[in-house]
Amino acid sequence: MITQSLAGDRRDTPVSIRPDRRMIFGGDYNPEQWPESVWPDDVRLMTEAGVTTVTLGVFSWAAIEPADGVFEFGWLDRIMSLMHEAGIGVTLATPTAAPPMWLIEQHPEIMTVDESGMPTGRGGRLGWSPSSVVFREHALRMVRALAEHVADHPALVLWHVSNEISNENGHTFDDETAVAFRRWLEARHSTIERLNDAWGTAFWGHTYPDFEHVRPPRSARTHHNPALLLDFERFTSEALLGHYLAEREVLREVTPDVPVTTNFMVMRSGGVADYERWAREVDVVSNDHYTMGADPRRHEELSFSAARTRGMAGGGPWLLMEHSTSSVNWQKLNLAKGPDEMLRNSLAHVAHGADGVSFFQWRQSRSGAEQWHSGMVPHAGPESQVFRDVCRLGAVLGRLDRVVGSSVAQGDVAIVWDQQSVWALSTSRTPHDDLPFHDLPIAVHAAASRAHLGVDVVPVDDDWSNYPVVVLPNLWLAAQGMTERVDAYVRAGGHLVVTCRSGIVDSDDQVLLGGYPGAYRETLGVRVDEFFPVPGDTLVTATVGDGATWGARHWTERVEATRASVLSRWVDGPRAGEPAVTLNEVGDGEAVYVSTMPDAAGWDALLAALAGRWGLKPTVTAPPALEAVTRRAQDGTDVVFLLNHGDEEARIGLAGHDHVTDAPFGGVVPAGGVAVVATTAEEARA
Ligand code: GLA
Repeated sequence: MITQSLAGDRRDTPVSIRPDRRMIFGGDYNPEQWPESVWPDDVRLMTEAGVTTVTLGVFSWAAIEPADGVFEFGWLDRIMSLMHEAGIGVTLATPTAAPPMWLIEQHPEIMTVDESGMPTGRGGRLGWSPSSVVFREHALRMVRALAEHVADHPALVLWHVSNEISNENGHTFDDETAVAFRRWLEARHSTIERLNDAWGTAFWGHTYPDFEHVRPPRSARTHHNPALLLDFERFTSEALLGHYLAEREVLREVTPDVPVTTNFMVMRSGGVADYERWAREVDVVSNDHYTMGADPRRHEELSFSAARTRGMAGGGPWLLMEHSTSSVNWQKLNLAKGPDEMLRNSLAHVAHGADGVSFFQWRQSRSGAEQWHSGMVPHAGPESQVFRDVCRLGAVLGRLDRVVGSSVAQGDVAIVWDQQSVWALSTSRTPHDDLPFHDLPIAVHAAASRAHLGVDVVPVDDDWSNYPVVVLPNLWLAAQGMTERVDAYVRAGGHLVVTCRSGIVDSDDQVLLGGYPGAYRETLGVRVDEFFPVPGDTLVTATVGDGATWGARHWTERVEATRASVLSRWVDGPRAGEPAVTLNEVGDGEAVYVSTMPDAAGWDALLAALAGRWGLKPTVTAPPALEAVTRRAQDGTDVVFLLNHGDEEARIGLAGHDHVTDAPFGGVVPAGGVAVVATTAEEARA
């Protein structure tokens, strides 16, 4: 069995990854997949594009260790030297995302097993079980050999452990996992009686006589006990993190001065990993982000993703490790990006704190499973729109080195993120199970952005008590102490907004009885006795004070305002005439309950009313479609990122130098355009 010490151990995020404090700009570079004769051309084109850093080695285990214990570093030495001579830094991946065929052949038992008990076939990537002792031994031998070999290489700037750990090995139901899961449960629940109690196994007579009887939740004819599923999610996240930690320990031992990261996928729906927890273990937070081409509101999802990643990084800088220059190849319809979309996407991440923009991948593959995924150098070669766009982005980023190491100023609004709630909601059968968790927090974030309120996404375990406004969206699970934390925040003068589907269960997934939302009922001054989901896309409407109405979908409740006053009532829908939104004065603060899921205009109306009431000031005066985020550079300059998501030009009264056009800013951002305006205090006043 594999065990790890799991106490958080993040070293201070370096102010800059590259010693010369330049932005990281580049991508996954897989030279071993090309003839060496192509390499000089790569170097020439990288230089032309302004690439500063590439990620080598992500899938190169078979190239480094072609046979058991036989290591070949010649090609890696040659390419690292070529990079160094060209002034390009190397983020070096440990290649453990791609176990070589010889290892799988020798040890098929390292592979994950699916819910039905079938072992994963070879031919993909990752695919190994984090509880496999044999895999761990081979992986760590590889990591040590690699680290020792490159330890003194001047090009090495950052370690990149494996690749998207959890992506293709998220849940596994193999026998070694079963053993590790039991030991994890023993550590969590101490005795089998406590486990039975916590899981409520009296239901359907599921009582376990012994830990040895518990198994990972393979396919069953009915829904599993949700508390078992929730613990399996927690265990899986820790088991995968355990693999990362094991690799990190070897890297820290051999190269103590090189920071270590692993690329997250924070917006992966459902989410296998508790990234807020993992973030405490990486020296630099890095994220991979791909837009869904068919989603007209994909920019809102992107901004939320970037803000959430910044929150994990404690508000400090982070890296965009992967995105795409144009289409991907894994959606049903893989749309090419529109004019300026790649530039807008890239700069939106930088606006929200990224100190680097990298892509999957440098050269679009000729063969293999991702030959139809865009790259920085497409099949057509450098004579292409994509490569011209890459060069333009490189030039813009080259002018933005001043923001490296800087943060986005803390906003007035904190949206609290809790992975435990994501899991608890997704593992239970609730009154409405067709509501992606992310939609509600994204909607709140987007509305705050349109209103130009400073808004952050903050991990539930961080201290959010100094934010004037705290929003708990879908925080279904209330961990021990959360009720008191939330109440104390309001009493001390805080402004709390709780949405429906929050504060419903405790850490064991047991419902908090006596009326919903059990955890926050007293603070909110409301009591709900039943939920009334709204089918399909039906819009239900509610009043606001001045006779106007706003709309909501999917969810309503029978809300009794026990102490709260009613801010808004339903006009129609299942609860016509009853409270939709309430406000309770508690101590020096106020607690608002939004018992539904407002649409975009609904959130705009609610936020406008609350911002007015609570005296929140916009950070800029600009049209709603113009997203504006400011990073304060090291030299004291404010660098204002302006992203026009609308289809009309947007005007803003701001003077300074636009780093996109490299010319004075004229106060207009074209439809779909982007400007990055560096403005000193004098310029801002002009
Ligand atoms: C992930 C992986 C990459 C590549 C891209 C394609 O991000 O890390 O190796 O497969 O997806 O979008």
